[in-house]
Amino acid sequence: MTESMRIVLASRPAGPPIPENFRTETVDTPALQPGHVLVRTLFLSLDPYMRGLMSTAESYAPPLEIGQVMAGATVVDVLESRDPLLEAGDIVLAFTGWQTHAVVPAQNVRKLEPTTLPLSTALGVLGMPGFAAYAGLLEIGKPSPGETVAVAAATGPVGSAVGQIAKIKGARSIGIAGGARKVAYLREIGFDAALDHRAPDFADQLAAAVPDGIDVYFENVGGAVAQAVFPLLNKYARVPICGMIADYNATGSPPGPDRLPAFYHRILIKSVTVRGFLQDEFAPTLYPDFLREMGEWVAEGRVRYLEDVVTGLDAAPEAFIGLLEGRNFGKLVVKVAE
Ligand SMILES: NC(=O)c1ccc[n+]([C@@H]2O[C@H](COP(=O)([O-])OP(=O)(O)OC[C@H]3O[C@@H](n4cnc5c(N)ncnc54)[C@H](OP(=O)(O)O)[C@@H]3O)[C@@H](O)[C@H]2O)c1
Repeated sequence: MTESMRIVLASRPAGPPIPENFRTETVDTPALQPGHVLVRTLFLSLDPYMRGLMSTAESYAPPLEIGQVMAGATVVDVLESRDPLLEAGDIVLAFTGWQTHAVVPAQNVRKLEPTTLPLSTALGVLGMPGFAAYAGLLEIGKPSPGETVAVAAATGPVGSAVGQIAKIKGARSIGIAGGARKVAYLREIGFDAALDHRAPDFADQLAAAVPDGIDVYFENVGGAVAQAVFPLLNKYARVPICGMIADYNATGSPPGPDRLPAFYHRILIKSVTVRGFLQDEFAPTLYPDFLREMGEWVAEGRVRYLEDVVTGLDAAPEAFIGLLEGRNFGKLVVKVAE
């Protein structure tokens, strides 16, 4: 048995999560059964969807129970194996959550190919968020050369990949992010225009930046950004709905008038396609293409990535709280062990 430190859901947030919603525990891992591996967490991914898991509101995944380990994707190394396909020292992608050690069925992990890139990229640009960008943009957004693609949360792992893949496909990329530092980074990595959604005249700036309108709005955030984008959508625009982070901490309907009629009206008069998706629906057909193509783009420097690495499992709650407020700058990962 090995001691594992873990962080569990202590209570459900009412609005933004607070440190008291999390509790740290130390437990012994269970005895290793045949077909299982004992793993040690190297990197833990922190992602916006975890906010949904903390709540009982209807979603695409069942909520965590109170007392359950916070869920999450991890890069782990195998300490001990009772499975013929894995051995001690293997580095694998797992879903062991916010804990330092775990015992899991070997069939639930995927061995990572050797790479010169940091292991953490398997949780970001070459992992789930990168795949959400790739699949959502190419399968639903379908940008054509010369079209305009807009995306918010644009310095995060999804948004930055969306904007850069759009450029590779010959489209014009408009990146929206919070604050001057993030906006400057978007310009540095080749976005055609970069805007701060916190600027008081953001909607006017956006309209000026897209003189030919918007053909693809990759929806990551909802809220005020979506309201500014919708009047600018072109005929036959496509809107992949990937996430709505502006509302994840909401406790009720947003203030102001009912915006649904105006939203439907725009969809009608511009023949807009709006399609929600979860990245895993595309995995069976697209994941190998994604790994190959994205791997090449990253290696060639055509897709750049940024990681925000915090150290130590105990830093996870505060870092996660910050993610929902835009305090992260790039893909947020926790370095749990060397
Ligand atoms: N459908 C799927 O399969 C799938 C898969 C992965 C991710 N997602 C979704 O994709 C979105 C991006 O995820 P990510 O991992 O790349 O996150 P991320 O960009 O690393 O982090 C979230 C960012 O959202 C922005 N944000 C927060 N509140 C906002 C608001 N009110 N208005 C505008 N922006 C706000 C902040 O950036 P700024 O400081 O720039 O505002 C924050 O840094 C999320 O909605 C997530 O749930 C969906």
